[in-house]
Amino acid sequence: MAEIGKNINFAKDFLERGKLVAIPTETVYGLSGNALDETAVLAIFEAKNRPSFDPLIVHTNSLEKLTKFVADIHPAALELAKHFWPGPLTLLLPKTALIPDLVTSGLDQVAVRIPDHSLTLDLLSQIEFPLAAPSANPFGYISPTSASHVAQQLGDKISYILDGGECGIGIESTIIGFVDNVPIVYRLGGLALEEIEAVVGKVTMMPHSSSNPKAPGMLKSHYAPRKRFFLIEREHMPSNNDGSTHYLLFDQFLPDVDLPRQRLLSPSGDLREAAHNLFAYLRELDGLSGEDILAETVPDVGLGRAINDRLRRAAAIGD
Ligand code: TXA
Ligand code: MG
Repeated sequence: MAEIGKNINFAKDFLERGKLVAIPTETVYGLSGNALDETAVLAIFEAKNRPSFDPLIVHTNSLEKLTKFVADIHPAALELAKHFWPGPLTLLLPKTALIPDLVTSGLDQVAVRIPDHSLTLDLLSQIEFPLAAPSANPFGYISPTSASHVAQQLGDKISYILDGGECGIGIESTIIGFVDNVPIVYRLGGLALEEIEAVVGKVTMMPHSSSNPKAPGMLKSHYAPRKRFFLIEREHMPSNNDGSTHYLLFDQFLPDVDLPRQRLLSPSGDLREAAHNLFAYLRELDGLSGEDILAETVPDVGLGRAINDRLRRAAAIGD
């Protein structure tokens, strides 16, 4: 079982020896390894049971370091980077030969980001190489937002868990790619579209597809709990009190359902709080006895769009 602690030297030492370390970020915990070491990268795919066609995000602590790994940062990308890094934004940029093909699943673009967490920034500043890090959950399951979430599922597959407390934002980074210098959203996430558009103007969404070679990670079914998970409009939500159904709601309880089987993402209707609680509450409900989780969507603005995206993918079957 991996040790959990705050010791950056331990983390550094393991990573330098090609081992895997879970790292805290402001979005979710990452399962990290040396991005330039193919053996370490392969071990990440294995630990997560992740298909090799689903590429990894490369993390570093400065734009300057990044210039070795990306061939070009065009103007719109640079503007976004300067505004939002460190922060919950991932950019798809053309890679240099230093980044192994394994990291990008053979694509010529690499996903890069500077995460906003003091422990991890400290760690990144003390190592020579960037860190490849997908979310630290088994492939397809709910992303971890605390060290104990990581320990529960990957504790026996990694060397160390760097404990940075609960992730502030709680939902993965927003991924932006570019076609002819025009930004395209590959994944909604912890940086709201409104904030991005305030900097670079209107952005368009990449359509979801499991077979789109440009966005191999955009599988419709993802973030899924083990219980059956249904997305239902509030006015059609059945009040089931036989004990087998749990409820994930936005800001108001259902009057006719026992309270212990209901979770409110944000009693005050705050979408940031809702994002912060989303994965932890999903896990909590998934761990209770019973068969079903019923959830409602949240207002489709700001972080609400990313929350609804995760809820829809949790509800999708197959694909
Ligand atoms: O907030 C986050 O982004 C977290 C933390 C740890 O940084 N990481 C994360 O990684 O969510 P992961 O692997 O769970 O999700 C990364 C997504 C995947 O859907 C993957 O397909 C996509 O990024 N991706 C990575 N590289 C790509 C590339 N070169 N082209 C297109 N999509 C890419
Ligand atoms: Mg993930």
